[in-house]
Amino acid sequence: MTQVSKHAESADTAARAERRWGAISVAIIAMLVVMAAYAGIHQAVMPQARVETADPGTLHIAGEFIESNLGSAMEPDGSVTVRAIGQQYSFTPQCIVVPTDTPVTIRATSADALHGFLIQGTNVNTMLVPGYVSAVTTRFTKPGDHAMPCHEFCGAGHEGMWGRVRVVEKAAFLQAAASQRRQSCVAQ
Ligand code: CUA
Repeated sequence: MTQVSKHAESADTAARAERRWGAISVAIIAMLVVMAAYAGIHQAVMPQARVETADPGTLHIAGEFIESNLGSAMEPDGSVTVRAIGQQYSFTPQCIVVPTDTPVTIRATSADALHGFLIQGTNVNTMLVPGYVSAVTTRFTKPGDHAMPCHEFCGAGHEGMWGRVRVVEKAAFLQAAASQRRQSCVAQ
């Protein structure tokens, strides 16, 4: 074999390796696009198109987030909806009560600044953005208390902005729901 043909052969090998790696990279990118699309379509992520709005200036006067409507409500389909507000520097209700083994949808918004909404020991972790409703659906398996800190710096009192989530047995929740339209565990 001459020097020239040896050189041509190694250049050819290198080009084939390049093409192979190029194809693998394209395949990885295509797989990520498919995964992102799948998660979006199945609502595993929350695309901006699903955004709902709530005017922070009138939260306390009218609409879904007036004070008498905050707390945990039984729905006709057997699920529970929790409505809450974050404001500098507390959550309302300060203590959220939810039953075990029940689909729970939390709907919350902010009355002023950007706040974080995180329930420790669960995968609930979102932001409360003034003007928008954050909705998260989850399910709690065991009774117990979870800390609910604001995890987004929202001003001088941020460090003190904590709430609590109390998970109670479903039977106890249902019993209380029979006499109360909205439940919370504030002052309990
Ligand atoms: Cu609210 Cu930090």
